[in-house]
Amino acid sequence: MSASTRLAAILQAVMQGMPAALSDRHYPGWHLAPVTGLLNDPNGFIHFDGHYHLFYQWNPLGCAHQHKCWGHWRSADLLHWQHQPIALMPDEEYDRSGCYSGSAVEENGVLTLIYTGNVKFEDGSRTAWQCLAQQNSAGEFDKLGPVIAVPEGYTGHVRDPKVWRHENHWYMVLAAQTTQRQGRVLLLRSDDLRAWHSLGEIAGSERGGLGAAGYMWECPDMFTLGDSTYLICCPQGVAPEEKRYLNSHACAWLSGSLDYEQAEYTHGPLNEMDAGFEFYAPQTTLTADGRRLLVGWMGTPDGEEMAQPTVAHRWIHQMTCLRELSSRNGRLCQQPVAELQALREAEQHYQGRADDMPPIAAARLELMLESQGDIELNFADTLILSWQQDELRLARRSLVTGEWIFRYWTGAARRLQILCDHSSVEIFINEGEGVMSSRYFPDTPAKLTLRGGAELTARYWSLRRCMVE
Ligand code: FRU
Repeated sequence: MSASTRLAAILQAVMQGMPAALSDRHYPGWHLAPVTGLLNDPNGFIHFDGHYHLFYQWNPLGCAHQHKCWGHWRSADLLHWQHQPIALMPDEEYDRSGCYSGSAVEENGVLTLIYTGNVKFEDGSRTAWQCLAQQNSAGEFDKLGPVIAVPEGYTGHVRDPKVWRHENHWYMVLAAQTTQRQGRVLLLRSDDLRAWHSLGEIAGSERGGLGAAGYMWECPDMFTLGDSTYLICCPQGVAPEEKRYLNSHACAWLSGSLDYEQAEYTHGPLNEMDAGFEFYAPQTTLTADGRRLLVGWMGTPDGEEMAQPTVAHRWIHQMTCLRELSSRNGRLCQQPVAELQALREAEQHYQGRADDMPPIAAARLELMLESQGDIELNFADTLILSWQQDELRLARRSLVTGEWIFRYWTGAARRLQILCDHSSVEIFINEGEGVMSSRYFPDTPAKLTLRGGAELTARYWSLRRCMVE
């Protein structure tokens, strides 16, 4: 497809698809979602020249994982976002099967994207190029072409570059699969973003004491917070345990320290990032005032995604809310970013037994709860959280078989902060020690009903709509 044919098709898809998406009752009121088609990973999250930029994997032409472009939103305040022109389309030989995930940096005052050009062949094999694009004075992104080919010893599954600056060098973590089908993360260094030198593998399956931990580690991100250097990654093929790693693919973090000179990352065990049904491929950036923020895709690949009812309205998936990260005793914690408090309407209170609390409208809601547990939170009979003394259990019916399926967070939850939108619930546990993020598709505007004899204290707010403009 030529670039102009593709652009015409995208324009038509948006014109036809946007009314269907925006009038769907499941379309979010304050989360970021595609105006039509499929959204997956957040990309290129950066504060640049007074604005936050968030790019995203976007198939504007339908709900399948195809035709991946980089959509682009911009915000001055992390709350109100504006659509920007589509940033990248797969129109070169080296990115013809998709402009896959990547990151953004500022190079000499210029917004620069580093992304994966994915190339699939008819025999099912693939190759990948790590590519650059730079914003020009008209605001468009000029592709500068590939700067890294598939390194020796790895398959065509090499992608998702995340680049940062450290002591006068550029560093990149890059997802890779060895020819022995082991998932790994590579560390590379460059002085100019163009010539890259691989420093070697820093983590992965059968590395650093992890044992077998998957055949591909997608979307790595690395940063230092407090005393720890964290590596976030999405290991595919981690064996499900009774109460962990139950999604089709996992997202996890490691905590440790990175020796940049030896390219050695010493780290502890893998920890699941989010214990809900939908969370994948998050990306972080620093705010102007030095906070480390994260946004994730509230979806998981290869699961039941195509059974979601929004597909009939020609859109699928949304982002999580923006979250601020903190490091507490070597543990990575996530809390909703403070800016979201501007969405709150009048504060309401309740104190007493869960059974006596009147049902509350949950379509757009923030709820802070304190209790010792033994409470059930029923979201429109569609998503049910059992808050037990030493565990949270989230239940939802399979969209395919109708059977109840469960996710767990193990530990004593004492405080919950719950953020609801029209078709999503994000549960932050004990000031962000744990999170459970899930989509759900209630038939009517959702009501939340609490059950149980336990005492609780609740503060809650309806949330205003905040649509992208
Ligand atoms: C993760 C992922 C990335 C890839 C992108 C393609 O969801 O598979 O590894 O770059 O999505 O859309």
